[in-house]
Amino acid sequence: MKKIVVAIDGPAGAGKSTIAKLVAEKLGYAYIDTGAMYRSVAWKFLQTGKDFDEAFISALAQTMVIEFKPEASVNRVFVDGTEVTDAIRSAEVTANVSRVAAIGDVRAAMVAQQRRMGEVGGVLMDGRDIGTVVFPNAQLKIFLTASVEERALRRYKELVAKGQDVDLAQLKEDIASRDKQDSERAISPLRQAEDALLLDTSDMNIEQVTTRILQLVEERAQ
Ligand code: DC
Repeated sequence: MKKIVVAIDGPAGAGKSTIAKLVAEKLGYAYIDTGAMYRSVAWKFLQTGKDFDEAFISALAQTMVIEFKPEASVNRVFVDGTEVTDAIRSAEVTANVSRVAAIGDVRAAMVAQQRRMGEVGGVLMDGRDIGTVVFPNAQLKIFLTASVEERALRRYKELVAKGQDVDLAQLKEDIASRDKQDSERAISPLRQAEDALLLDTSDMNIEQVTTRILQLVEERAQ
């Protein structure tokens, strides 16, 4: 079988990273979580304590080194040698990342790295603009989505399982607000590529989604 590029896009909380990681493991493909890259830029910027400044943040994005070290249960992330796996999931980073990801020069720097990582094939990349901008010629494009209610509920269960005290209505509001910011930004907004397959997972479990994507990869990689 050929080693293809699989692009998975979709809104926050649709299960992209969980699914992409499982599928990549089954196929022996590399998994690139591009949201983690934008989160890393936001984290690096917040570390400086400076006011929001597009030119400054763009310069950081161009010089920082982001690395992934996949392990059995987690995809570890490092910025300039420091592990940020948990730090990039903090509420503060989550609240700031959409603004950072809307900066054109930040996106240009990340897209260039993503293309380098994917050029050899055998890669599963998830994000918002993978099928539309990063790899418009990807052999398989999937747009993974689920209702806002279902996405909020999944995130709620995940956080409760980690012992966090969370409010479901607030989570739903946060997700809807991130959807809006990601879909309405001027540069590379979240949208389904014309040739992407829409997979609504509202009524599907993880195994069903994984199996479906594996079938699709098998078809496309002939
Ligand atoms: O998937 P996530 O929640 O980790 O993504 C974090 C943010 O980064 C989110 O606001 C959308 C943005 N993002 C993006 O603009 N382009 C991508 N390819 C991936 C994520």
